[in-house]
Order: sequence, then C-alpha cells, then structure tokens
Amino acid sequence: MTEAVRIDGKAFADKLRARVAEQVRELKSAHGLTPGLAVVIVGDDPASHVYVRNKNKSTLEAGMKSFEHQLPIDTSQKELLTLIDGLNSDPAVHGILVQLPLPKQIDEQAVLAKIDPNKDVDGFHVINAGRLATGMPGLVPCTPLGCLLLIKDTLGKDLSGLRAVVLGRSNIVGKPMAQLLLRESCTVTIAHSRTKDLAEECRRADILVAAVGRAQMVKGDWIKPGAVVIDVGINRIPPAEVGGKDRLVGDVDYAECAKVAGAITPVPGGVGPMTIACLLANTVTAACALKGIAVPDVG
Ligand code: GUN
Repeated sequence: MTEAVRIDGKAFADKLRARVAEQVRELKSAHGLTPGLAVVIVGDDPASHVYVRNKNKSTLEAGMKSFEHQLPIDTSQKELLTLIDGLNSDPAVHGILVQLPLPKQIDEQAVLAKIDPNKDVDGFHVINAGRLATGMPGLVPCTPLGCLLLIKDTLGKDLSGLRAVVLGRSNIVGKPMAQLLLRESCTVTIAHSRTKDLAEECRRADILVAAVGRAQMVKGDWIKPGAVVIDVGINRIPPAEVGGKDRLVGDVDYAECAKVAGAITPVPGGVGPMTIACLLANTVTAACALKGIAVPDVG
C-alpha cells in the first residue's frame, strides 16, 4: 500500500515568510511604509512566552517593526484596555495581538472587542468573524488560514463541491475553518464531541481538518481513502521514562491514517509553522488596508 504524501508545512511556511519579507521590502521602497506588529502578553505562562519570542523574531526577520508588551500577571482589565487604546491609535502599529489565554481577572471577550478590527491580525474580533461569515474582506484567523493554504497547495485552487469535515468548533480554529471552506464552495460539516458516529462523519470527508485537542483520536478507519488530512492538534505526551522529553503528537494517529489518506500533515512540522507565517501575512494585509494600498494576495 502506498503511503500518503507528507505535507511539509515547515517548507511552505518558509516560502510564505520569504514572500512576506519581499512584500515588506516593496512597501518600504514604494510607500515608505514599514508594517508594525504589537504583541501583548500578560503573565508568565512559559509556553506563551515561547510563542511570543518566536513571533517577535519572525516579525523582525520579515523586516517589520515588532513592539512587545510584557505585563505582570496581576494586570487589571482596565490597564490592559488602556494599553490597547494606545496601540489602536499608534500609527506605527498596524497589527495587534493579545496572547491568549489571559489571567482570570480579565474578560477575554472585552479585550478582543477593544482591538481595532482593522488591526486585529488574529481575526478574533466579532467584526472580523462577521466579515468572514458574510464574504466581506477582513482579517482571517491565522491557523485556519494556514490550513487552507496547505489544502490548496495539495489539491489545487478549486475545492468546489468537495466534502469537508471540520472536527472541532472553537472560535479560533473550527468555526473560521468551516467558513473558509464554505467560501471555497466545499460542502462543510462541523463535527464535535457531541456528534453521533464521529468516525462515520469523518469517513465522508475529502478534506478532514482535526482541531479537537485529543491526542491521536482520529484513527485509520475514520479516513476516506485518498482524503487530505490536516492535523491542527498539538498534544504533549509525557515521557514514558524518567529523564525523557515530552513527545508532541497531533489529534490524528499519523501512522495509521497515512496508510489510507492521500496527503497528511505531520505534527510537528505541519500546520504549526503556518500560524506565525500567516500572522506576518495578516500584518502586511492590515498595514496595506489601513494605508489604502492594494492588499497583496496571501495565496
Ligand atoms: N494562544 C495560542 N494560540 C494563539 C493565537 O493564535 N493567538 C493568540 N492571540 N493567542 C494564542
């Protein structure tokens, strides 16, 4: 039996970041515009700090300005909203990202609602969710955007009529992913923990996107032969032996599913690297839209 094509998200993300860097050079020379991204992190969650460091490094490598705001864990909601107000009106800042999760004294929805929707490079503001749902141009959440780019790179630009199943209904991945696939004229099902006969639903999918946060839940007999399988999950498995390292696995049992699928993303090295690359692309999109410059095509 032939193994599925392994979709190399790392290589695709590297190419996308190089393209973004080229767009930034053009914006500087033709318009004197340097896109700027502000990242706000509250508290000392180690994983969040790793993400933020990577975002900062990638932003600078792409030739953009990076503004990092590290706030203590006891920051009040009012203080955070005041900072966002300042970033909303700062002309050097074109993109704003507030790292989630936030400490419990802060209302996440109030914070996301405060960000200027035209600087909302995470695409989490309800205005951007509404724009996506109604087919208006807007900023699209980075992880689902990255998934769509990988799907199109694998299957070609025309996805119309294909059956897509999105496993997971989060506001960050599942729902926007479903909207993006619907916009591509796929027949879309959102499946989740309460779905009856999950395996049967998944087996109907030409495109399966798994974003549930359950380690290796999707098994080989859930996959339609030849399907494209996109694994958004990042689950840490503690070491079997003392002194070993955590192992990262996705929501998909790669070894089993690769025997049935036509193409599949690995974990790590699949969807993960696409998120930051799309964040950089969104920052260029936001900067251009704010300045009334034609927005480059992300695909
Ligand atoms: N925390 C984990 N992933 C993300 C993300 O994509 N955006 C933000 N703002 N926080 C996150």
